[in-house]
Amino acid sequence: MELKGKVALVSGASSGIGAATARKLAAHGVKVGAAARRLDRLEQVVAEIHAAGGEAVAIAMDVTDAAQVAAGAKKLFDAYGAIDIAFNNAGLMPISNVESLKTNEWHRMMDVNVKGLLNTTAEVIPYMKRQGGGHIVNTSSIAGRKVFPGMSVYCASKHAVTAFSEGLRLDVAAKYNIRVTCIQPGAVESELFEHISDKKYREQMEQLKNEMTFLKAEDIADTVLFALMAPQRVNVAEIFVLPTTQPW
Ligand SMILES: NC(=O)c1ccc[n+]([C@@H]2O[C@H](COP(=O)([O-])OP(=O)(O)OC[C@H]3O[C@@H](n4cnc5c(N)ncnc54)[C@H](OP(=O)(O)O)[C@@H]3O)[C@@H](O)[C@H]2O)c1
Repeated sequence: MELKGKVALVSGASSGIGAATARKLAAHGVKVGAAARRLDRLEQVVAEIHAAGGEAVAIAMDVTDAAQVAAGAKKLFDAYGAIDIAFNNAGLMPISNVESLKTNEWHRMMDVNVKGLLNTTAEVIPYMKRQGGGHIVNTSSIAGRKVFPGMSVYCASKHAVTAFSEGLRLDVAAKYNIRVTCIQPGAVESELFEHISDKKYREQMEQLKNEMTFLKAEDIADTVLFALMAPQRVNVAEIFVLPTTQPW
């Protein structure tokens, strides 16, 4: 499908997978709303897109705050007159053993990874229905298919994303012409590990970089692009994409 002129809301666009996808979409002629909380980082991404001849606006938006999400979507619509694509990608992974009882981190993961994604989805669906279609792409994870020690709450949050994506597709794809894609990456180079407060797990995750060649954020951006560019009759529902050298 031709992407030129389409309008996309990209959450988590201030770093990692979201920033790479914002750049990639803009390079294919998509008008991008680059959304996250760190406005300075978003403005950097937007400046790079403009310098490369693309179109983008920075949208300061905390996905856990439904009013901010509504204002962000409106800002994008006011700028470009449509919302055709939503990449629900904002997320965090402060992992630890359950017995550590880091309950604030558990709640934060559920708030951002699950409820934040629900907030954005709820906000874009009415725009897409009015336009007669759209495409929602959700970032789940290998942790949305398998469970790993020390990652129970993160895995629960990403299993919720996987399940919700499939349910969403059942509810809106045929009825409203809204395609739904769930992407499940393995290990990707990004800032994701920086929020792990548990020293043991932070070291364990950093150690993985010596054991395999991580995917680059651009690899996931390419995956998003693949799903978006498929003909309208094709709904790429799930994509599981892993480093070749990832042994699990
Ligand atoms: N890296 C991996 O190995 C991997 C593997 C599988 C899945 N994933 C998933 O990929 C997604 C992107 O992560 P990443 O690897 O690119 O990590 P990252 O570089 O840390 O990016 C996370 C993004 O989420 C945004 N974010 C966090 N909390 C937010 C909030 N409350 N409201 C709005 N935005 C928020 C951050 O922006 P601000 O801080 O500026 O708000 C940032 O842009 C996440 O859903 C992650 O779970 C990552």
